[in-house]
Amino acid sequence: MTAAERLIEDQLQSLFEAARLAREQAYAPYSGFKVGAALATPDGAVFAGCNVENAAYPVGTCAEAAAIAAMVAAGGRRIAAILVVGDGAALVTPCGACRQRIREFAGPDTPIHAAGRDGLRRSFTLDALLPFAFGPDNLEGS
Ligand code: THU
Repeated sequence: MTAAERLIEDQLQSLFEAARLAREQAYAPYSGFKVGAALATPDGAVFAGCNVENAAYPVGTCAEAAAIAAMVAAGGRRIAAILVVGDGAALVTPCGACRQRIREFAGPDTPIHAAGRDGLRRSFTLDALLPFAFGPDNLEGS
C-alpha cells in the first residue's frame, strides 16, 4: 500500500468509526432505522450526526443533515468525503434531499461511502448519485 492509499484508508476508518458511534445515539423510535453519518473537511476535521425522528413524522431529520449542520456550526464549508452507515440488506445511500444538501458543500468527484454495520460496502461519487445537479453555481451572477 502506498502512503497516499494508507491516508485514504485511515480517513475511511475514522469516518466509519465516527458514523458508527453517532448511529448508536440515533433517535429513531418510529422507523426503528438508525443511521449515522460522518464527513471529513479538506483539513481533516471530522463531523458526525445521526437521524432524529419526531412524533410529527415529516419533522424528522437525517443523519447527513446533522453532520452537515455540525460542520457548518464549526465554520466548515467544504466536504472532502462523507460516509453513511445503516443496517439491513439494502445499501444505505443518502436520500434525495440529502444528496442535494451534500451538493451545497461538495463537488462532483466528492466520495460518498455507503457502509453497513460491519464496514464499507460501496463507494460512489456525488456526480454518480446526483447527476446534472443544481447548485450554488447556478445562482452566480444572477
Ligand atoms: N435516514 C437517514 O438519516 N439517512 C439516510 O441516508 C436515509 C434515511 C433516516 C430518516 C429516517 O429517520 C429513517 O432513516 C428511515 O427513513
